[in-house]
Amino acid sequence: MTLFSSSRRLAFLLVLTIIAAPVSAASPDPARGTGGAVASAAPAATQAGLEILRAGGNAVDAAVATALALAVVHPQAGNLGGGGFAVARMDGEATALDFRETAPAAASHDMYLDAKGEPVTERSLVGPLAAGVPGSPAGLWELHQRYGALDWAQVVAPAIRLAGDGFVVTARLEKSVAKAAQLLGRFPETAAVWLPGGEPPAAGSLMKLPDLAATLAAYAERGPEAITGGPLAAAIEIVSNRHGGILKAADLKAYRSVWREPVVFDAFGWRVASMPLPSSGGIILGQTAGLLERIEWQRTPRFGAERAHLLVEAWRRAYADRFLLGDPSTSRATAADLLDDEWLDRRARELRSRRATPSDEVRSWSLPAARESTETTHLSVADGAGNVVSITTTLNGSFGCGLLVPGVGFLLNNEMDDFAAAPGRPNLYGLIQGEANAVGPGKRMLSSMSPAVAWRETETMALGSPGGSTIPTVTVQVLLNVMVDGDDLQAAVNRPRIHHQWMPDQIEVEPDALAPETAVELERRGYRLKARNRLGEVNAVRVTSAGTVEAAADPRGPGSAGVVQPAPGS
Ligand code: GLY
Repeated sequence: MTLFSSSRRLAFLLVLTIIAAPVSAASPDPARGTGGAVASAAPAATQAGLEILRAGGNAVDAAVATALALAVVHPQAGNLGGGGFAVARMDGEATALDFRETAPAAASHDMYLDAKGEPVTERSLVGPLAAGVPGSPAGLWELHQRYGALDWAQVVAPAIRLAGDGFVVTARLEKSVAKAAQLLGRFPETAAVWLPGGEPPAAGSLMKLPDLAATLAAYAERGPEAITGGPLAAAIEIVSNRHGGILKAADLKAYRSVWREPVVFDAFGWRVASMPLPSSGGIILGQTAGLLERIEWQRTPRFGAERAHLLVEAWRRAYADRFLLGDPSTSRATAADLLDDEWLDRRARELRSRRATPSDEVRSWSLPAARESTETTHLSVADGAGNVVSITTTLNGSFGCGLLVPGVGFLLNNEMDDFAAAPGRPNLYGLIQGEANAVGPGKRMLSSMSPAVAWRETETMALGSPGGSTIPTVTVQVLLNVMVDGDDLQAAVNRPRIHHQWMPDQIEVEPDALAPETAVELERRGYRLKARNRLGEVNAVRVTSAGTVEAAADPRGPGSAGVVQPAPGS
């Protein structure tokens, strides 16, 4: 049943307004200045990044400080027990660091199937059997080792202070803990910290995390070995064993982050760099932009049905191709295959129809989408010298697998759920996933995270979003708002969004994203529309060649954006 097939159509249309005026009245003011900029999901983390910029740190120093502060104040997704990706442009060079989790050495192809071969979803979501080997301790250190300007200990210091001296619990954190109380309450180790007296910490109260402060202090002193070896690694193995996991201290010791060639493409007068495999994000951004350029999408009226139609048809094909992808060692296609001119030309020729193509007819060589969690977090940083860093990091689900390591103070991820538990067969949600993304020891699970940087002669920006499978479509819409339509950064972030990922075959629509007549025309062309409260939470920064900076936090969340002003007289 389509959303607009009944009397609900009228009600839905009444709440839609013209997309041409979509910037919410509640939008935060954009932050503008000259000395550097930070945008993240939590005000205390943004302040940590700004503190490091003010102390003379560069964009990498500030980004690492922000990420570590998020590991304290935004435990839903900020982490030391998870992983992520960083894309940076430092001194004009674009780079990508992969600190995605890996499957433990004891992981196996069918580990999430029952005796009948059916997936047991809880096993890949709850408790340490769901945990991949954390990549953040090695990754954040490695990023700083290569590009940082300040001492490592100075960069970690704000996070130690937040954990040790305490931070004020935000309304968002209280609400997130309450929502996850059932999961967190399953593990006494977690409940002791996050559900004291059986209740979430109250908004406005001071939260101290002494174990995490001690872990961060050891990390500041000795780097990742403080966590991936010795008593902290042993504590992780012990609690994992206690709750049926397979994560071992040896897995932590063996983990390595990997520098990778970013996916780089030119579009609409800009050059864009984003994450390669094991993320599908950069490839989807590149395919979308490549297809839209080929069909001269920019010539269609901005808020018309033709524009939305062509965007969705491009995504439909990019997501169809996505399902060949997996860890670079087993992926059935590469970025080079899917961004190849011949392939994009062929796909672009398929976009001639003015009708929706049923997704069933866009088979590619591929299979439908993996279900992906939406609880991830993105931060963007620029420094006054024009360097930018874009980091997306995640535990996968909100608070990961729910298990906090006692004496260590951080939660473990449930990233193993991003693998295909039963390749080629529908999971509990009716979705089918590809063999390229099957579980295997040491493999990295396919991601959609799309940290991106984009630049042209006069300016550079960094952006990204949480949102599971919606991350690439959210990110590319913000890019297109700037690159094609010349929005300023905050307006580009604010503007309502849509999403389509091939399967299920529907356009998800934020309030105000489609004008009523556009929605009606899309339905007439054969699309099914589904209302969605919000899509993504973009944090973005921009720096011009004249040295002015701008930071934009997404009004969809309580994140914050800030800039550093140079000291008077400097
Ligand atoms: N866990 C969400 C992603 O990596 O895409």
